[in-house]
Amino acid sequence: MKKIIVGNWKLNLDHLQGIQLLQKINYSLDKDIEEKIDIVLAPSHTSLRSLQTVISTDNLKIKISSQDVSSQNDGAFTGEVSAFQLKKLNIDYSIIGHSERRSLFNENNKIVEEKFRCLESNNIMQVLCIGESLEEMESGKTLDVLNEQIASVLKNKTLKKALIAYEPIWAIGTGKTPTPIQVNQINQYIKDVVQSTTANNYLPKVLYGGSVNSENAAAFFSCENIDGALVGGASLDGKHFAEIVNEFNRIK
Ligand code: PGA
Repeated sequence: MKKIIVGNWKLNLDHLQGIQLLQKINYSLDKDIEEKIDIVLAPSHTSLRSLQTVISTDNLKIKISSQDVSSQNDGAFTGEVSAFQLKKLNIDYSIIGHSERRSLFNENNKIVEEKFRCLESNNIMQVLCIGESLEEMESGKTLDVLNEQIASVLKNKTLKKALIAYEPIWAIGTGKTPTPIQVNQINQYIKDVVQSTTANNYLPKVLYGGSVNSENAAAFFSCENIDGALVGGASLDGKHFAEIVNEFNRIK
């Protein structure tokens, strides 16, 4: 089964810097990467078009994701970008429900569900982020939180695509991570919950995100239920990000 590695550039880089980083990543990747791994980069909206143009002109094996999408399709929603507009740019993926959107921009599960539907009707692959806070983890509520986040978005849906990214909030940008064994167990739980929640018993790929770097990548990637990674900070360094992808590629 193909693995997926998503680089989330967050609010960094202008479009020219984005092109440079894309080229550096591409240059540093193992040559046989595409048989085993889908590489997806999520720049700011202002860079989507330029990166997509470079990718199609140079025939690169890298895909582009949006970092977010509007929960509305069109109309009087100043500042929003719709799934339809992304599709017109040939964008195939969009992150939704990232913890920074949930906590800094007050996005609740209902909004995430609306975004999920907008992407679905435009045939864009959702990268649905879920994860517990430090407090929730410490009080033993991790599984309940994940269950609720999954059920409120996916309940009774018939899924065709959709990826889940398990991102414990306390691991994002902190250098702390759960152990690979813990993530492996939680990812198994997430797969079970998604299967029993969806109308068609959909078995998703589940990524791990939170302080992934080239040193810890191999340990995560050798776990059965970790189908890829969502990488933030380390994706802003082309060589480092490519090393993470290459680590994955070399695992038997
Ligand atoms: P990080 O971010 O790799 O910098 O921890 C991950 C994310 O926010 O998706």
